[in-house]
Amino acid sequence: MPLKYQAPRGTRDLLPEEIGRWQWAEARARGVLERYSYAEIRTPEFEEFDLFARTSGETSDVVQKEMYRFRDLKGRDLALRPEGTAGVCRAYLERNLAARGRVHKLWYLGPMFRYGRPQKGRFRQFFQVGAEIIGTPAAAADVEMVTLFVDLFRAWGFAGLTVALNSVGTPATREEYARRLREWLAPVRERLSADSQKRLEVNPLRVLDSKDEGDRALLEGRAGAGGALPRMLDVLDPESRAHWEQVLAGLAALDVRCEIDHGLVRGLDYYTRTAFEVHDRSLGAQSALGGGGRYDGLIEALGGPPTPGVGFSIGLDRVLLALEDRAVTPPAAAPRVFVAGMEETHAEVAALARALRAEFVVDYDFEARSLSTQLKAADRGGARVAVLLGAEEWGRGEVLLRDLATKAQRAVPRGEIAAQLRAMLGSAPEVSAR
Ligand code: HAM
Repeated sequence: MPLKYQAPRGTRDLLPEEIGRWQWAEARARGVLERYSYAEIRTPEFEEFDLFARTSGETSDVVQKEMYRFRDLKGRDLALRPEGTAGVCRAYLERNLAARGRVHKLWYLGPMFRYGRPQKGRFRQFFQVGAEIIGTPAAAADVEMVTLFVDLFRAWGFAGLTVALNSVGTPATREEYARRLREWLAPVRERLSADSQKRLEVNPLRVLDSKDEGDRALLEGRAGAGGALPRMLDVLDPESRAHWEQVLAGLAALDVRCEIDHGLVRGLDYYTRTAFEVHDRSLGAQSALGGGGRYDGLIEALGGPPTPGVGFSIGLDRVLLALEDRAVTPPAAAPRVFVAGMEETHAEVAALARALRAEFVVDYDFEARSLSTQLKAADRGGARVAVLLGAEEWGRGEVLLRDLATKAQRAVPRGEIAAQLRAMLGSAPEVSAR
């Protein structure tokens, strides 16, 4: 019989056996972000719809087709956040972070929502970890962002990823570039997909994002468009060009591997100057693991003073999928202790377990079943050591410590249980990838 309730399309449950990987990935990210001296920020999972429309761009796919937009009971026009940057910038302004310092380095992790067609690596609720530097136009901030981006992937065990990099200039350079792109595509206009023909009218840069095979062939110069794709770098204003050169030099000095991608424009409208992405082709069509760039006009567009910013986010669902593809094994769980009682001592089990839980991962049987059933449960639960409350031993002020692998056991005074467990289990293994 089909179940009456199922998780909404495009969402999923992360069951306990998967959570270990997620926590490991999140802990790794948190460690890197803290060592880079970023502070965590948590903003609401829904905001006014207009905040996203204004920042992501009215014509972006995210706003046009993918928004979870709703009215609350008072008729407010709200939306589940499709991304994190707009909320962080709104908070920066609303909470007047500028008064507390000029430059803010922030990070966040949480669910985002986009109404896309679900497929491998694309969900309607997905998780991003992201970072933003607000308050400085310095190219060194862009360099730090790309470096941090790379170091996060490195901490997850990715090797050999190359960051694709471009400069998207200022709104004026983009306008000029859009004109050149339209001109370049004019002779093959009819051969573009219907979607791209529409994009060519409204926002030509979006054509570069097309996933359509025919469009890709045209864009990559394989199918008859005249000459090579126009380059954004050729129309940069002098300041943006100088900034770009500084970013490249900074990344080269740190040995960060990048490839210039002249077709990289990003799917959200707020970008200026630096734009970057990293892809993992093993994921198929949804290959972008993360991306970001500079957004010097965003805070002003929200009604604030001109305030530059640069940042990125990484899709954790895709990171975990890619790690699975690479067979990265999940970390070992902390060794467990199982407290088992007998008829005469069951009443003592909960109190001893509670005391040991100050330090160890401890479980016991709620149902006070037979000793052999309890030991089976201990094995199934992955326990390494059982603390047996034998009636006789307990009467003498002792317990039995049983190594569940070797089955060796010995009596230990109650006051020494913790010290003995420490010796048997070693210190808890640091969570790490192998
Ligand atoms: P974005 O490129 O739209 O950028 O998204 C970043 C990452 O989120 C993508 O590379 C992808 O890994 C993941 N992602 C996006 N949509 C989905 C989905 N439907 N299912 C699974 N994963 C997805 C941003 O969101 C910007 N806020 C990045 C940024 C921060 N720019 C400046 N600061």
